[in-house]
Amino acid sequence: MVGLTRVPGLLFGGDYNPEQWPEEVWAEDARLMAEAGVNLATVAVFSWSRLEPRQGEYDFGWLDRVLDLLHAHGVAADLATATATPPPWLVREHPDVMPVNADGVRLEFGSRQGYCPSSPVFREHLVRLTTAMATRYQNHPALVMWHVGNEYADHTLECFCPESARHFREWLAARYGDVDALNAAWGTSCWGQHYTAFAQIEPPRTAPGPVNPAQLLDWRRFCSDALLELFLAEKAVLREISPDVPITTNFMSILHGLDYWKWSAALDVVSDDAYPDPADPESHVAVALSYDLMRSLKRQPWLLLESAPSAVSWREVNVPKPPGMMRLHSLQALAHGSDGVLFFQWRQAKYGPEKFHSALLPHGGTTTRGWQDTLRLGRDLRKLGELAGAETKAQVAIVLDWESWWGLEAPESMPSNRLKLKELLLAWYRPLHARGVAVDLAPPGRDLSGYRLVIVPNLYLCTDEQAESLAAFDGELIVGPFSGVVDAADQVHEGGAPGPLRELLGVEVDEFWPLQDGVTQDTTAGPARTWAEWIRLVDAEPVASYEGGELHGRPAITRRGNVTYVSCLLDDVTPVLEPALGGLDHVDVPEGVEAVRRGGHLFLLNHTTTRKQVTLPRPGTDLLTETALHGDIELAPRDAVVLRIEGDK
Ligand code: GAL
Repeated sequence: MVGLTRVPGLLFGGDYNPEQWPEEVWAEDARLMAEAGVNLATVAVFSWSRLEPRQGEYDFGWLDRVLDLLHAHGVAADLATATATPPPWLVREHPDVMPVNADGVRLEFGSRQGYCPSSPVFREHLVRLTTAMATRYQNHPALVMWHVGNEYADHTLECFCPESARHFREWLAARYGDVDALNAAWGTSCWGQHYTAFAQIEPPRTAPGPVNPAQLLDWRRFCSDALLELFLAEKAVLREISPDVPITTNFMSILHGLDYWKWSAALDVVSDDAYPDPADPESHVAVALSYDLMRSLKRQPWLLLESAPSAVSWREVNVPKPPGMMRLHSLQALAHGSDGVLFFQWRQAKYGPEKFHSALLPHGGTTTRGWQDTLRLGRDLRKLGELAGAETKAQVAIVLDWESWWGLEAPESMPSNRLKLKELLLAWYRPLHARGVAVDLAPPGRDLSGYRLVIVPNLYLCTDEQAESLAAFDGELIVGPFSGVVDAADQVHEGGAPGPLRELLGVEVDEFWPLQDGVTQDTTAGPARTWAEWIRLVDAEPVASYEGGELHGRPAITRRGNVTYVSCLLDDVTPVLEPALGGLDHVDVPEGVEAVRRGGHLFLLNHTTTRKQVTLPRPGTDLLTETALHGDIELAPRDAVVLRIEGDK
């Protein structure tokens, strides 16, 4: 099957940091990788200081030997451009390469990702190193993918230094043309902020009181764009020198800081790093949502480029994965469209902040439980090669928009700061996931015509064009509360919410009615918390009403044609979803079992610690055990079945 790279079948492997080990260890690494069936290693992510120990003095010899060795053992390379951490000589010679925080403190060297995204010096050196890497390795037979940067915005999303300020002003000038347009958009007549020149504008550093939310929104846009510019600077070099090798950078699931719709357009391969907490029994639901986002970004298979074999090292308490969970979570990523499973990292570190982070090859070596898990997963993945490249068909889409998210979660100026977009998305995703309904994510402007049900959990910031695109959708549409409130400049729409959605929803929001923590507002569709609204019907029918309290008897959920508006946050949205679910493809599974279709395959994943019985909708062959199955089957705790469905493609 054709996958994301020219490596056949599914990809398996992880980050490999040979520079942390004496060269004698490398041969054992390569031998054990081959034994485990590893076919992809991410190399050189943080290697700049070892590849260019002094300016212009390159030491590629060790990396040449590593890549040759990997290649000789059948392991391909996702080769990093090594720009994720500038070397000490660069930082010492140009201290302003380091980022400055909102309080004006310049951060110190000694960790990673220590760079100002807008620093021209950093960019110049990064382009130079990328050019050297691409030139040297463009034809290396191990190279199958370029890995640019690493987890952009993990540590460094923003910098408040004078160079960043200059860059921000340049970005603002390009967006607004003249300062009066900016004044109008930012509403600078409020609190005496009228500017007469772009030169007067600074990033939103720590200020005496709440900062202009329109300025903050543009700052969020700028920060995402500034890092993207940095990525694009490297991409241009790689395209030029090594045009046929796909380019990726590893995303961080549903990350607030970067607009992944915009970013993914610049990637050849979407890849993701996912670290669900083994201590959270619900974490497989949230991670499924993020995997569905990854698949939806380019509407094609993606790659789980990092995950943890067991414990991570960066939570307060780092709980290990109990037996079976690493395999189960790996299969889950494949179910949701990944063409492989990679880990951080290959060999467990001996030193540094990640020395207690689990790895495919633990400190204890090949006698450990971890190593047995690695071998088992390698064997399983080899049986699943036919999944590579398989697409997913979803009839349901959940709308997600970064600009609206940024507006919604602006600090200090909202009716309630309890509305968190990820939770709002999950409230709708959870019941769909439990019923085995496939879900895509979509930006509000995307053509939605292929879907039968579209859910907009929240669209606080909604432009006229986005409203038109939603109105053009002729399937079932559900819109959640506090939507259509502001325009792209964070200014309240004429007449208030739901602004450009007024006609579509047939309601007007008279007043937002946020609920204090711990307060429940009953409705005829079940209890609501956190948020309610006093709405007026214009051209809609009430479907459910508020019960008790000040809102008693007023409409809570309304319907106009095929559009449902839910003005509150229900504890359980099932009653709203139920009528729309009829006729949608789904699989009946007991609680805690996840059912996911991918191409002609059905994954059944038992996330519980008890045996579960499932009735197969169709007969097929379990690729993991190579047995024919039909009717009722039993899934052992944390076990899974990957069914090739008979007669399906
Ligand atoms: C990621 C990062 C890796 C490693 C890993 C540990 O955020 O890309 O380099 O630090 O986390 O979980």
